[in-house]
Amino acid sequence: MAQLDLKTFFKNVSDDAIADANDILRPYEKLVPIKCLGEEIHLPENNSLWRGLQFWGLMTGEVRIDFGLFCIAGTCLRCKSLVKTPGAANREPMLLCQTTAEPGLEIMKLAQGFSYKGRQR
Ligand code: FES
Repeated sequence: MAQLDLKTFFKNVSDDAIADANDILRPYEKLVPIKCLGEEIHLPENNSLWRGLQFWGLMTGEVRIDFGLFCIAGTCLRCKSLVKTPGAANREPMLLCQTTAEPGLEIMKLAQGFSYKGRQR
């Protein structure tokens, strides 16, 4: 069960969305800032980027995932995306379902099957 009050962090989020998020996540106490296609988003620590993006989609509606494409278990390789870890010189292909969210990490290109529509400024 999450320690964080998601209703404080995300305005207008529904109780159903919070319940769905808590069903898919490992225990976490805080959200960590990462960048997705140049914009800052906040994902639960101790969880994969895959689940984190699913979480962000539930909280904000900014992420859509074509769920049927993915195993979420490290075998289909379809979630391979370009990610730059903090301190790394270059972005590298990484599996979103096998990479844990950490502060400062940047997702530079998302695998097909994910869409991120950002802030719609
Ligand atoms: S979703 Fe299949 S390897 Fe990540």
